[in-house]
Amino acid sequence: MHVTHLSLADFRSYARVEVPLDPGVTAFVGANGQGKTNLVEAVGYLATLGSHRVSSDAPLVRMGADRAVIRAAVTQGERSQLVELELNPGKANRARINRSSQVRPRDVLGIVRTVLFAPEDLALVKGDPGERRRFLDELVTARSPRMAGVRSDYERVLKQRNTLLKSAAMARRHGGRSMDLSTLDVWDQHLGRVGAELLAQRLDLIATLQPLADKAYADVAPGGGPVTLEYRSSVGAEVESARTREELYGQLIAALADVRKQEIERGVTLVGPHRDDLVLGLRGMPAKGYASHGESWSYALALRLASYDLLRSEGNEPVLVLDDVFAELDARRRERLAELVAPGEQVLVTAAVDDDVPGVLAGTRYAVSAGEVERL
Ligand SMILES: Nc1ncnc2c1ncn2[C@@H]1O[C@H](COP(=O)(O)OP(=O)(O)O)[C@@H](O)[C@H]1O
Ligand SMILES: [Mg+2]
Repeated sequence: MHVTHLSLADFRSYARVEVPLDPGVTAFVGANGQGKTNLVEAVGYLATLGSHRVSSDAPLVRMGADRAVIRAAVTQGERSQLVELELNPGKANRARINRSSQVRPRDVLGIVRTVLFAPEDLALVKGDPGERRRFLDELVTARSPRMAGVRSDYERVLKQRNTLLKSAAMARRHGGRSMDLSTLDVWDQHLGRVGAELLAQRLDLIATLQPLADKAYADVAPGGGPVTLEYRSSVGAEVESARTREELYGQLIAALADVRKQEIERGVTLVGPHRDDLVLGLRGMPAKGYASHGESWSYALALRLASYDLLRSEGNEPVLVLDDVFAELDARRRERLAELVAPGEQVLVTAAVDDDVPGVLAGTRYAVSAGEVERL
């Protein structure tokens, strides 16, 4: 798929901007702080319902405005669609498809698909497990948009179960009446059912991504690998060998039973996909804590390129976004990466200076300056 038109109102630094887009490569060039990343961030938002830079919507709304609108015309094969999201911080966001009546924001997932690589991705390697869980879950959702529903069900069940555990912990501390544990059993089953679904999808994703990540790392940093992806689950190492969702469900329920006493003491859910991590291995060591800055950067890029490969191979080609990538690379790696991505259906690149964009990425160029986006 590709985006044929992007239109923003009160998004970040833009009061209004209209950007017609072609398939192939488009480069946005301009000095720092001019609004290049803001443009690609908006495209990424349509694909994930989130920003790659901030976890809340408030900073996405232009200072002084009270809502932002992102609109995109999208073409996939013969089919064209118009998607629109209105961001209302503190209130529910709204969504529309083809100007018809409102749909839930999550219903637009799958129309715009992106793989976005940005300097913030260094946190994938160096940051907390939450960064890697988000990476996995966004990719799981890109492969299968219905997983957005599973993810939000999981969040809801987890929250309610935690509330219940918290009141149990309080009652226990204050010597109150002990809780009716059958209620907790019901929540265990909910958590087990939804959690097993999420676990199964993550495990399948990692198995599929592993060889692609290893290959991508070799492309980005020849001879620097191998790269291994290993899921580390709070449920236990046995999740790796589970063959069915039923088995995962059973393991999760058993793990919850094992920690129930601690959970009631502490008032939080201690096992489940929300406590898991993806261990990124490089030459037999965890990249986090061991890899150099350059290696970590290459690793993050390799994960994104592998994601791109995966989504392409599964049918619907995503838009590849490379935000500020080329300046980090030496000339040889720059050319390699450019050759790798040049055949993509749509590639959006940002760079501070024209010379950073490799020659093989000929295509449309826009100059971005003080919120003006001008075709060159
Ligand atoms: N909500 C907002 N309202 C107004 N301006 C914003 C908002 N968020 C970010 N900006 C401005 O956008 C600019 C950064 O744009 P960005 O796209 O990140 O720049 P770059 O071209 O370097 O990628 C900064 O000058 C920042 O002040
Ligand atoms: Mg930028």
